[in-house]
Amino acid sequence: MVVSNREPYIHAYRNGQVQVRRPASGLTVALDPVMRAVGGVWVAHGSGEADSHVTDERDRIRVPPEKPAYTLKRVWLNKEQEEGYYYGLANSALWPLCHIAYRRPVFRAADWDCYREVNEKFAQAVAEEVGEEKAFVFVQDYHLALLPRLVKERCPQATVAHFWHIPWPNPEVFRICPWKVELLDGLLGNDMLSFHIRYHANNFIDTVDRELEARPDREMTAIIYRGQTTKIRHFPISVDFETIHWEANRRPVKLRMRELREQLRLPTRNIGLGIDRADYTKGIPERLRAIDRFLELSPEYAGDFAFVQVAVPSRVHVEEYRRLNDEIDGLVEEINWKHGRGAWKPIVYLPQHLPPTDLLALYRLARFCLVSSLHDGMNLVAKEFVAANVEEDGVLLLSQFTGAARELRDALIINPFATDHLAEQIHQALTMEDDEVRRRMRRLRDTVRERNIYKWAGDIIRKLGRLV
Ligand code: G6P
Repeated sequence: MVVSNREPYIHAYRNGQVQVRRPASGLTVALDPVMRAVGGVWVAHGSGEADSHVTDERDRIRVPPEKPAYTLKRVWLNKEQEEGYYYGLANSALWPLCHIAYRRPVFRAADWDCYREVNEKFAQAVAEEVGEEKAFVFVQDYHLALLPRLVKERCPQATVAHFWHIPWPNPEVFRICPWKVELLDGLLGNDMLSFHIRYHANNFIDTVDRELEARPDREMTAIIYRGQTTKIRHFPISVDFETIHWEANRRPVKLRMRELREQLRLPTRNIGLGIDRADYTKGIPERLRAIDRFLELSPEYAGDFAFVQVAVPSRVHVEEYRRLNDEIDGLVEEINWKHGRGAWKPIVYLPQHLPPTDLLALYRLARFCLVSSLHDGMNLVAKEFVAANVEEDGVLLLSQFTGAARELRDALIINPFATDHLAEQIHQALTMEDDEVRRRMRRLRDTVRERNIYKWAGDIIRKLGRLV
């Protein structure tokens, strides 16, 4: 059983019809293929307006719609709960607390109450499905930190593991959280807690050491607390390489490449690409400033260059996100005004959700993909770009502050805060010899092909099997 806040399929109304959408979420992109392969139940918040119209009396629906392979069980939240638990505690307190992106976390006691209430609600839904079975419950992310202990109390026979998809900060940062003890206590209800990289796992062990009367066993990377042992591990998450590779090669994508090139008036070769949720941790203003600097330094690219930025709207009820959207709008306007000539504008800004075919077409059209996160647990856009680059003719520029940078060594590793240097690296990506581009991309593809999402899931399940 997988439990997460975000659901893999969202049902919504469009022109009076029910339509299914897949959300922009690294977590769901990664876990959906695993669930398709192994089956089971995925418990998640039913966030779509038509969600309740398609579920049965136990709030369940079989997915994926085109070829059902597992069950999605939806948990319903009222507006107040969504406000306090999701927009409040999860995304105004824990998200900025764990990402060092210089946004101050907001800690509201009322949000904390909602967070506890919603975690209880998820525990209830899990218990309904698990019953007396020796199930394997796999909890996802920072929305559900209290869930492991709550599930263990209700279903002691279940094995509970948790994957924390975002960074874990060092103890100096985490200690400002008013509910640090409760959060750590909840997480130590797990049999195993995992992060993308060793650094975050070590930060977690240091935090527990500082805050709780617990016994960290550094040799074994485990924590013994309230008579229970929690193993702390790291497993870098990934994407379904073969499926992306296969889809990217199909005719609809090739057709879309032609159409998009025309519609967006893209040049033949010098195309840069950014695809993100509109989130302040992704460094979108930083990358636009670097594009601006690049065009100042290399005016010869005027008329023969485009940077396509897809920004999927996200968490817009949180003030910081609204401010970010305004900032991006302003920067795009300013840069296009400053460098534009006649009909040509350097930045093509698409602040919308695009279908998978369009994303694959853009990945294939791009000469370079720029991932400039200020801090990111992993970043799967980097890996998707590599998997979609079937012609091995693209360059990946990847922030050193992503988990992915530890594996994808053949990318051009960048620092999004160093604007001038990044501008030079953009130039380097456009002028790199074809041989070198291919050599780097081949090695990147070998890495992602081998360390794919099935290996990630297999490694976790194998490890857990040995531990319990
Ligand atoms: C990050 C988080 C996920 C989350 C995703 C999308 O990847 O780690 O838990 O699902 O962002 O954000 P959203 O708030 O739309 O679920």
